[in-house]
Amino acid sequence: MAEQTTPDKKPAPKKKPADDGRIPPPPSSHYERPGMMDQVRDSQIWRSIFRHGYPNTVRNRSLAVLSNIFLHLHPINVRSSGLRLSFTWCMGGLTFFLFLIETITGVLLMFYYRPTAEYAYQDIIALAEHVPMGIMRELHRWGAHAMVITVWLHMFRVFMTGSYKPPREFNWNVGVILLVLTLLLSFTGYLLPWDQLAIWAITVGSNMARATPLLGYEGPLASLMAVGDVGLVHSGDDARFALLGGRFVGEATLLRFYVLHCIFIPLAAAILMAVHFWRIRKDGGISGPL
Ligand code: HEM
Repeated sequence: MAEQTTPDKKPAPKKKPADDGRIPPPPSSHYERPGMMDQVRDSQIWRSIFRHGYPNTVRNRSLAVLSNIFLHLHPINVRSSGLRLSFTWCMGGLTFFLFLIETITGVLLMFYYRPTAEYAYQDIIALAEHVPMGIMRELHRWGAHAMVITVWLHMFRVFMTGSYKPPREFNWNVGVILLVLTLLLSFTGYLLPWDQLAIWAITVGSNMARATPLLGYEGPLASLMAVGDVGLVHSGDDARFALLGGRFVGEATLLRFYVLHCIFIPLAAAILMAVHFWRIRKDGGISGPL
């Protein structure tokens, strides 16, 4: 049956193609030959990397964030209050930025610094005096001081805005471990210049490990660690001994602190930072004002 048409009936609006986030196929007609970029974008290699079209729609922008390993830690939507400088002071972000600076300058320093009693001090002097303005060493040193300050300020802001309360209490605890790791990075880095200040500072600082519960030979409950009359924890095998690689600060300590400083602690911190950022998302983004 023929369709009835009324003169005042408006023609149905043209249906837009559904925005399913895919890149549209290239035009097939002879006159609309795809350009080189269209061909690149339609290639298997491009499509295997990018699973979405131009991020010019809300959906594609969301897909761009979700399908990128670096961006996906960041939430798609952020509360405008969370972006206010007066709320976060950007102290968490600055701490992370300084961690990146420390990683880059630290790796560059590793090309020149040798962690042995014979060379360590000389190498630091060379890095400070023979490199213009001692730039790498100074960036690393000042960056480390700044990171300790910003991480404390970040913790202070989180406390003042009550952001440790549920559901963020787990992330607060992740943060506490990050704070300890930041301080340990400072502590282990302090020995590396291998000058008198470094050696005696670590001698004094590491004495605290003697008082570790159960594992320090002067610590509480250490006497419980015994088989019959024979004590298992003494100055030759306790927590301080494990930290120093001996009874006193020596070459073994330098190597131990170097490995802890360059590999073990930064790796642990990087993994925990990923957990910290991911957790911010899972807890509903940066907290709102109180
Ligand atoms: C290496 C150390 C750290 C890094 C790189 C870091 C990074 C960040 C960043 C980028 C944020 C987003 C909001 C902001 O910038 O304020 C954040 C939020 C948060 N951080 Fe940290 N953080 C660190 C240490 C800590 C410490 C020491 C604590 C507490 C003990 C902590 C607890 C939290 C909590 C609870 C949030 C969520 C706050 C909210 O939702 O308002 N973080 N962190």
